[in-house]
Amino acid sequence: MSLSLRDAHHIAAQELKKAGVSEPSLDARLLLASLFKDGREVFFREPERLLTSEEEQLFRGLVERRVLREPVSHILGRREFWSLEFLVNSDVLDPRPDSETLIEATLTQCGQEFSGRILDLGTGSGCLLLTLLTELPKSTGIAVDQSVAALDVAKENTRRLGLQNRCELFHSHWFEKVQGRFDVIVSNPPYIETETVKELEPEVTQFEPLSALDGGKDGLNCYREIVSSAPDFLCEGGYLIFEVGFGQAEAVASLLRGENFSEIRIHNDLASVGRCVSGILK
Ligand SMILES: C[S@@+](CC[C@H](N)C(=O)[O-])C[C@H]1O[C@@H](n2cnc3c(N)ncnc32)[C@H](O)[C@@H]1O
Repeated sequence: MSLSLRDAHHIAAQELKKAGVSEPSLDARLLLASLFKDGREVFFREPERLLTSEEEQLFRGLVERRVLREPVSHILGRREFWSLEFLVNSDVLDPRPDSETLIEATLTQCGQEFSGRILDLGTGSGCLLLTLLTELPKSTGIAVDQSVAALDVAKENTRRLGLQNRCELFHSHWFEKVQGRFDVIVSNPPYIETETVKELEPEVTQFEPLSALDGGKDGLNCYREIVSSAPDFLCEGGYLIFEVGFGQAEAVASLLRGENFSEIRIHNDLASVGRCVSGILK
């Protein structure tokens, strides 16, 4: 007997709950909605609509993947960030809503007419640079990553967003192959303490690259490395902004203080957690 959308959702949500998924009802709805072009609407408009056997089989396959804790974004192959759609897979960190704090702070700092150069260190999916280029139509940028596979994803996102003419993406260990100076440097480097990485949810440990997570013993290795070289790559008055992990803001602010940065600010996310640290090169 065919299942209605409502019943299929209910059964899947139960299975996901049993598997330890943190938002089983939401995830079951997103997976179900992905079967249809106007998925969200169909789900709410026609909860009694019956699934065809093909749809049911397809849905079952998606739920099985989620039961194994594969993130919804990987199953669907996309993730929304700042209302833009990004291709994601296990080669890149999933863009997180927390990172929108960095976008907000940078846009406030630059102003809409900004026509300078932006450098994104550790670009992953490209979400930070590509969002900034979208919001600041006169700006240009460079994004680097040490992962060739991540760069392939970022390049595809660049193409999909039609930004190929305004940015360059290449392989580099932080600044190693970068030339010239920039008005803005953004980075969300790996910042999880090595010992903590293995305690993270399976969605992260099994499906996201370790090289995007592990920030060394105290989580601050990448900040130290980047901050010490940043003055050589920023214009005078240039802006450096980092995303930081929970409880790291003060430590990163003091790294900036030690390297000739002024106007150091901590930017809170929606949960009032210090999520970004910025400074201006004197
Ligand atoms: C936390 S992820 C951030 C990805 C993306 N910017 C975002 O905000 O979603 C960190 C990224 O830094 C890259 N990375 C790590 N070490 C690096 C290094 N030494 N040089 C360049 N990129 C590096 C990783 O490959 C990963 O893509």
